[in-house]
Amino acid sequence: MKHFISFLLIVSMVSCQQEIPVNEPAIIPLPVSLKQNPGSFSLNKNTRIVASAESMPAAEFLRDFIQKGTGLELKISEKEKSNAIIFSLVEPGKDSVSDPEGYSLISTSKKVRITAISPAGLLYGAQTLRQLFPPEIEGAGPHPEIQWAVPLVEIYDQPAFRWRGMMLDCVRHFFPVSHVKHLLDQIAALKMNHFHWHLVDDQGWRIEILKYPELTKTSAWRVDREDLPWGERPSQKAGEEATYGGFYTQDEIREVVAYAAKLNIEIIPEIEMPAHVSCVFASYPELSCTGKKITVPPGGVWPITDIYCAGNDSVFAFLENVLSEVAGLFPSKYIHVGGDEATKTEWKKCPKCQARIKKEGLKNEQELQSYFMSRIEKFLNSKGKNLIGWDEILEGGLAPQATVMSWRGFEGGIEAAGAGHDVVMSPTSYCYFDYYQGPKESEPLAIGGFLPLSKVYQFNPVPAELKAENIKHILGGQANLWTEFIPTPEHSEYMLFPRLDAMAEDLWTPLKNKNYDDFLKRLQIQFERYDFAGVNYSKNIY
Ligand code: ACM
Ligand code: ZN
Repeated sequence: MKHFISFLLIVSMVSCQQEIPVNEPAIIPLPVSLKQNPGSFSLNKNTRIVASAESMPAAEFLRDFIQKGTGLELKISEKEKSNAIIFSLVEPGKDSVSDPEGYSLISTSKKVRITAISPAGLLYGAQTLRQLFPPEIEGAGPHPEIQWAVPLVEIYDQPAFRWRGMMLDCVRHFFPVSHVKHLLDQIAALKMNHFHWHLVDDQGWRIEILKYPELTKTSAWRVDREDLPWGERPSQKAGEEATYGGFYTQDEIREVVAYAAKLNIEIIPEIEMPAHVSCVFASYPELSCTGKKITVPPGGVWPITDIYCAGNDSVFAFLENVLSEVAGLFPSKYIHVGGDEATKTEWKKCPKCQARIKKEGLKNEQELQSYFMSRIEKFLNSKGKNLIGWDEILEGGLAPQATVMSWRGFEGGIEAAGAGHDVVMSPTSYCYFDYYQGPKESEPLAIGGFLPLSKVYQFNPVPAELKAENIKHILGGQANLWTEFIPTPEHSEYMLFPRLDAMAEDLWTPLKNKNYDDFLKRLQIQFERYDFAGVNYSKNIY
């Protein structure tokens, strides 16, 4: 027995000197530049995280992440030492880091140093380090059998685009806060920084508004027709109870916003208008042109003719009250006001809307929508917020400061950028993750379309037709997940991953460095990470 123990001791002493096998780096999105050197850096219980007060958010993120995955409780200290992961905040231009979200990560066998000019860059350095560890770190530790070693690297990195977004529709199906946070964890790992939260649509109102309690008492709930196809769901009948739906309380909203902020994610709430608001008229029918009370639709609504009356000043009073509360909850510079798919049938017939057109000297209902949006924009600006909307807000004239989210193609975005407006590109052809990702026969029912992983990887938010001087107006791009056909959190993950991995690389990695075959190779490791993290990704590419 004694012999056996000393034998083990010798083996372990020898192995300390030996190279610890490490994986090749498999980072998504691919960094701008990465050089691997021989050797490795290993964690042990004496490893320190070095951080100042300013770099503490990234340090705490890494400490908690390492603790969860490995069981090691690393201490954070201010003083530099060996056997440490060092977060270093520097002046712009130092250590080749100049972008506010950029960072460098340089490791030796004794130290990993992450350098950036802002806390966001430090956090992205930590996210890269996360992906250098064995994939098991994504799960719940401890794993005493694993040596937590990372390859030695020199990485210099920064994003290609400022807006790297994802939208989740929490109306067509409602998702709990726990799921939203789980997605935020994953999109942050992909260095995406905007989460567009679709909180209002025909089938439900999902955000508590203190001034209008009916919105969450009545408009948030619909009759349960989940057993019927989305497009064939009869309206609520007299005597039937509306039991399907839900909403986020203001406390929950604040909690999610704070959670996202720690991950360098800005949350942009979407409060739709003038259409996609049928549910509002279940509570406040006087806000539509007809004043007719309706019930919350349990499924598809098309065309959308029940819309806010643009001739009624109480509609604007209502929206301003709603937006005041929303502006107070979300620190984001932007509030998304929808603007899409408003069929103007009722506006054409409504005496109030027609009187508004006449009084304001507008040409038609298109210009009435433009009036609507410009009036809302003025209010948002007074609250220190910017208006962003779907590309229909171009019709009839764009509100003066508006940012356009181009979804029906690139054209709206090209037009808006040409007129000097900022643009987020989100065309259906590359960015609609509710589309099928594989052959219909082998996929769960989806809304239609076809958007395989390989096509997402070809997305470039800057179309060739765009004039060079307008490129600066393209903030970036965004993947959208509409959820008519996506009833569960697991299903939403299936539709998002790995297409979101491709989107993340489209928006972070310089075009010239992108390579689909190399991406697929790194994706193998990413799938292992997802297995440990409990992410339900699609294996459709196999
Ligand atoms: C949209 O897909 N209606 C923006
Ligand atoms: Zn009207």
